[in-house]
Amino acid sequence: MKQSSVYDCTMIELDKHHHEKGNITVVENGKTVPFEVKRTYYLYDVPGGESRGGHAHKELSQLIIAASGSFTVTLDDGNVKRTFLLNRPYQGLYIVPGIWRTLDDFSSGSVCLVLASHKYDENDYIRDYDKFIRYKKD
Ligand code: TYD
Repeated sequence: MKQSSVYDCTMIELDKHHHEKGNITVVENGKTVPFEVKRTYYLYDVPGGESRGGHAHKELSQLIIAASGSFTVTLDDGNVKRTFLLNRPYQGLYIVPGIWRTLDDFSSGSVCLVLASHKYDENDYIRDYDKFIRYKKD
């Protein structure tokens, strides 16, 4: 999605079941997420001060959740940048394809849960920022 904008990316309030013994959040295909989830992965043990991401995807949609702790996600469509603080396990940041993203400020012990629309494919990545800008302008 070459023409996608950071304004196509939104925070989604997830299903939350409060319980005195603890809470549960459920994510279901066809209900919570605007795409079919094909892959789930999570980042953890990110050293303090480390930055992750620093790339865009051509086709991949993602939902990013701070399953534990907090971090920031900065989105960039080549024109506009938006930064989101993720610090609630019942909120997910929906990222459409064609957006450069950077993840920073991981709190100690934080877990970044990612639900993705496709299997891992290195060819779907744009890892060079200048190439990304050219891709968006094509
Ligand atoms: P990458 O997506 O670049 O990490 P991040 O955006 O969190 O900084 O992934 C880092 C490496 O992990 C990548 O080069 C290959 C491997 N990897 C897989 O093998 N499968 C996957 O599903 C993912 C997400 C990464």
